[in-house]
Amino acid sequence: MLRENAGKLQVASIVKNEPLAHDVYHITLSAPKLAADARPGQFVMVKVAPGLEPALRRPFSLHRFDGEAGQVEFIYQVVGRGTDILTNRVAGEEIELFGPLGNGFCLEKGSRIGLVGGGMGIAPLLAAAEEISRLGREVVTFLGAKTGDYLLTTKDFAALGPLYLTTDDGSAGDKALVTKPLLDYLENKKLDLILACGPTPMLRALSKLANEGGIPTQLSLEERMGCGTGVCLGCATAIRADTPEGYTYKRVCHDGPVFWARDVLFSVPDKITAKGGCDHGQG
Ligand SMILES: Cc1cc2nc3c(=O)[nH]c(=O)nc-3n(C[C@H](O)[C@H](O)[C@H](O)COP(=O)(O)OP(=O)(O)OC[C@H]3O[C@@H](n4cnc5c(N)ncnc54)[C@H](O)[C@@H]3O)c2cc1C
Ligand code: FES
Repeated sequence: MLRENAGKLQVASIVKNEPLAHDVYHITLSAPKLAADARPGQFVMVKVAPGLEPALRRPFSLHRFDGEAGQVEFIYQVVGRGTDILTNRVAGEEIELFGPLGNGFCLEKGSRIGLVGGGMGIAPLLAAAEEISRLGREVVTFLGAKTGDYLLTTKDFAALGPLYLTTDDGSAGDKALVTKPLLDYLENKKLDLILACGPTPMLRALSKLANEGGIPTQLSLEERMGCGTGVCLGCATAIRADTPEGYTYKRVCHDGPVFWARDVLFSVPDKITAKGGCDHGQG
């Protein structure tokens, strides 16, 4: 693990850090080595402030990277202390990063690839869209959010291929779940591969739809992370496997964050949960 992570600690400088929506920011960093090494779907552990507090780095998906310019971009929502501190960091300051981490999306196959993003799940999809386009393949994007304000960086997606938008309140795009335009699309056209990131209910619904339709689908999962490097086991999630139980626990940071939808168990089967619970033969 140590050798694998050697050289991943780097100091970047902040180019800009600006609001995109009222609690969502877009940060651009000058980080030449990271920009050169990154792959779409990977993430970085960010030390939001110098010094001891907060001690733990926070994980953020690479939203975009440009090896030639030596820059990487992230979009982040303010949800707690770490992300709040990050909003106060300004251009010219240094920031410590650890990455790139994780496996990233597998883009080996597929001439027409669908991207499905919900809420902040939009974050890792732009880098994927740019890579697919660079590879000369077709990219079709489906993005959903609470309101139009949270449909982020849509112009960048629209520049790369067809874009379908939905919101919960109908303030932009269709008032629908993001799976609706995807289903409509699949009635007439084919996608060879789907890449997705978003809230668990969206991923669960998409997974069902893709598995039933036989469309290979990769999901980028998010779990709370302590170390980000496979050591603390804090991000373990149940993944289908050839074991007596039918699954095993994998580390989202080290074995993911991208997994095939057919392998992701959104809940561990009841029988197994009961066994692992508080049933110690009392009473
Ligand atoms: C691989 C990966 C990539 C991510 N990419 C992005 C991204 O591109 N943009 C972005 O805005 N966020 C992203 N996140 C989530 C982000 O890491 C958390 O929102 C952030 O760490 C919260 O830090 P905090 O100190 O502000 O909040 P905390 O005080 O640590 O937590 C505040 C609230 O956020 C919840 N929370 C914290 N971490 C997570 C998590 N991993 N998943 C779900 N809920 C969480 C907590 O349960 C709590 O309710 C990603 C997470 C992972 C694991
Ligand atoms: S966050 Fe520590 S093992 Fe994944």
